[in-house]
Amino acid sequence: MICPCVTDYRVRGGGICLATIREVALRANVSVATVSRVINNKGYVDAKTKEEVLKVIKELNYVPKSVAQVLAGKKMKALALMVPDISNPFFAELAKAVEDTAYQKGFTVFLCNSDDQDNKKKLYIDVLKRKSIDGMILATHQLDKKVFDQCRDIPLVLMDRAYIHEDCTVITTQNRQGVKLAIEHLLSIGCRKIAHIYGPQELITAKERLLAYLDAVKDFSWASDTLLAPGYFQIEGGRKAMRTLMERHPDLDGVFVGNDTMAIGALKELHQMRISVPEKVAICGFDGIPITQMIEPELTTIEQPIYELGRQAAQVLIERIEGKGGVKKHIQLNVKLKIRDSTRRRLW
Ligand code: RIB
Repeated sequence: MICPCVTDYRVRGGGICLATIREVALRANVSVATVSRVINNKGYVDAKTKEEVLKVIKELNYVPKSVAQVLAGKKMKALALMVPDISNPFFAELAKAVEDTAYQKGFTVFLCNSDDQDNKKKLYIDVLKRKSIDGMILATHQLDKKVFDQCRDIPLVLMDRAYIHEDCTVITTQNRQGVKLAIEHLLSIGCRKIAHIYGPQELITAKERLLAYLDAVKDFSWASDTLLAPGYFQIEGGRKAMRTLMERHPDLDGVFVGNDTMAIGALKELHQMRISVPEKVAICGFDGIPITQMIEPELTTIEQPIYELGRQAAQVLIERIEGKGGVKKHIQLNVKLKIRDSTRRRLW
């Protein structure tokens, strides 16, 4: 049955009703295989039939599904990038790097936002495989085995929140080294009690940063679990964690925050509490998202090479797809300390 809205293509019920190859065949009174031969210009179709099919395709404004081209043996030249939270500027910049690199190499990119939910990841991977995607980049945290096994038969690159996998390339950044730089910097400006606002511990990046913080402060007499508070990698979580820490330790004078969005929330809360930054409390984040330069005071942070992370992931994946290398290995990119006003203390 031809979809009633098929001729006008108005959006109905939130979705655009598009003609299918079956509807074209029905109206042209030919088989689906004949329509496919006309679309892919492969195999014999008499001129009159071909003209009729092309007329119906035009009438219905039919767009051959990518699967038709794939059935004819033409690859889509399409990648998929799955991120856990597209609302976080970190992943927006990562997506831009992947798309820029893929576009330069003639590939399109399907962007999937999983909201860190395994059922969404499974759904996306199912759909992407049916669309015969050429390869996938996963920036989500470690996949459960069932989900990961679904991806085994397509080229895969894991990045950022990823455990090491022997059968695919993993690209991460030096989380532990970054935390060491942050704590050393806070100590160097005179901080005598440093707290930590941490991200969700089921995420390898948040977990590595918490462990690195504990390692960096373990020999100080003030070190205590009460100097730790969860911020869930969210702005609001950072605000609540900062208030909790100040209520527990009014004398704390430094905070290392596990990502920039939580650090922005913490800055906001300190402002609300009329606590001056950096004079009373100095604060350092982690990521290096652009907005950290737009807030007041500008945020000192551990800058991850976000764009390079995405660029390398796309490059390695395309090399693997095109059989030009892209060997399976673990690539760790360096991070750097970016000093700004949230830790620029006058030491006199
Ligand atoms: O801000 C989002 C965080 O999740 C970043 O630190 C990134 O490393 C990812 O793990």
